[in-house]
Amino acid sequence: MSRKPLIAGNWKMNVNHVEAVGLVQKLAWALGDFKYDPTKAECLVIPPFVDLRSVQTLIEADKIPLAWGAQDVSEHENGAYTGDISAEMLLKLGCSYVIIGHSERRQYHHESDFVVNEKTRNALAKGLTPIICVGEGLEVRRAEEHVPFTLAQVAAALEDRTPEQVAKVVIAYEPIWAIGTGEVATPEDAQEVCGAVRGKLAELYGDEVSEQVRILYGGSVKASTIVALMVKPDIDGVLVGGASLNPDEFALITRFYEASGGKSW
Ligand code: 13P
Repeated sequence: MSRKPLIAGNWKMNVNHVEAVGLVQKLAWALGDFKYDPTKAECLVIPPFVDLRSVQTLIEADKIPLAWGAQDVSEHENGAYTGDISAEMLLKLGCSYVIIGHSERRQYHHESDFVVNEKTRNALAKGLTPIICVGEGLEVRRAEEHVPFTLAQVAAALEDRTPEQVAKVVIAYEPIWAIGTGEVATPEDAQEVCGAVRGKLAELYGDEVSEQVRILYGGSVKASTIVALMVKPDIDGVLVGGASLNPDEFALITRFYEASGGKSW
């Protein structure tokens, strides 16, 4: 398996820049205590914009084995877009990843598939790795339309990108009904959709590309649920919300491979 697992913590709108320093320090200690092995998985923190400089400075100074990224990026280059943050600004702060199209942005900021596509285009053009979030709400799940719904979001986000670009993206399947609710999709539910996403990528861009794309699951992930998710063939990592604010819990999640049930990383 050539896809390196990605364990990403989305802090959402929590933790100010002073608290961020404390959280990263505690996480560094916890990763040390739990003997996090950076050859087995990539570990990523995604703080609010205003924390990024503090997080970057600390991680670089103390050589902490963590990558960092942002929760959103503008689709525009620069200019009169009050409140927006450009890809260039994020690169200057050492970000390597950016979340695009999180359900909370689709819901509260009315981000359409078109906007998600534009942001993805811009991030890729600048060299940021997009983590494109997709996933259905409860109504869609109850109607058993979750697979076609999610695949349509994936196709729309990636339309007009080259196969080489698509190979670099990360897709995060986050069923909205499982976010922050304590309701985890079963590993079988998650695999069903993640597997279908990989199948769609193969259909659109070929097997070689689809085998390179990392597909994450997100929604109430905890240390107690990580292994059962990670052993599934098409789940290459997780996007963690609430549990990423607890350094011990998050560090423990990075140890998923200890009980990997036959899947090798
Ligand atoms: P929770 O882990 O808090 O459910 O959040 C998931 C999420 O939205 C990550 O982006």
